[in-house]
Amino acid sequence: MSDTFFLNGKETPFVHGQMILDAAKNGGIEIPTLCYLKGATPTGACRICLVEVKGARSLIAACSTPVTQGMEVFTDSELVHRARKLNVELLLSSGKHNCITCEANGNCRLQDLAYFYKITNLQFEESDRGYATEDENPFIVRNFSKCILCGRCVQACNEVVVNRAISHGYRGAESKIVTGGDQPYNNSECVFCGQCVQVCPVGALTEKKAKGLGRPWETQKIRTTCPYCGVGCQQLLHVKDGKIVKVTAVEDAQPNQGRLCVKGRFAYDFIYSEERLKTPLIREANGEFREASWDEALDLVATKFKEIIKKDGPDAIAGVSCARSINEDSYQMQKLFRAVIGTNNIDHCART
Ligand code: FES
Repeated sequence: MSDTFFLNGKETPFVHGQMILDAAKNGGIEIPTLCYLKGATPTGACRICLVEVKGARSLIAACSTPVTQGMEVFTDSELVHRARKLNVELLLSSGKHNCITCEANGNCRLQDLAYFYKITNLQFEESDRGYATEDENPFIVRNFSKCILCGRCVQACNEVVVNRAISHGYRGAESKIVTGGDQPYNNSECVFCGQCVQVCPVGALTEKKAKGLGRPWETQKIRTTCPYCGVGCQQLLHVKDGKIVKVTAVEDAQPNQGRLCVKGRFAYDFIYSEERLKTPLIREANGEFREASWDEALDLVATKFKEIIKKDGPDAIAGVSCARSINEDSYQMQKLFRAVIGTNNIDHCART
């Protein structure tokens, strides 16, 4: 017999040790969250996932409370919604959340919650911690006035990519997400993988290069495989008018499970480089290169290979496949060298 609890009055199965948030999701009820980050230790920081539990003295956070046998959970009561709305108002009051010019407009969970709860006027005085925006590095803008201190960036940095470059700093009204010594990202342990940007639920952390290039609803999301190494990370290209605005990782997809490295996320400028080779080049006897068709170039290579094999044998040829090749291409390359050319002189440039 499986364990069950009561979700809005309906008997629902759960797995021992499961949090209310996950058990409710399995039961078809989506509880809103801000600080919850899948795969990381729940922090219970934002109090948006509050639910009512019969017999409990106060509302409790669904993300960090395990379900118990027979527990009666209410996710949709008036008390729950009043508390969630109040917490959204408090978050909106701390900092400057100017949606009109915010890069996260249309991709902001706080904005979604404010819309859901129809919050038009704030009952609390707005306060700002007064920390200046940091954009001294080429990749990430840190706007502390939009930071809601949910800690998802800290969880992602410490537990998902395990770089341990940021943590919670200072206290009370001075609270801030800091690097070691509260240095700018540039002077810290940050490796600019951008995982903090990917998980930020508001506009506190944004991609610098994407600034002003397109709103989320204006871009087409195209899934592709990262071109940088053989791991095959899955990424989404956010494209507007045929140009990449930014790159994000595909959540819940193998092998990267929502992660990217600095190259996969930020180093796509080469696509638009004027110096990029787009046709094969053949070096003439005078040492000059001339453009050629793929047929001509491949015929020339095949002819030269045959000449070398005839004169000195297949081991006079060696191949190094490109580190940017996907596994399947590297496999085909070694097959070509071993089975067709007849040599084991094949290697892979493993630097990524
Ligand atoms: Fe549960 Fe933030 S999502 S407290």
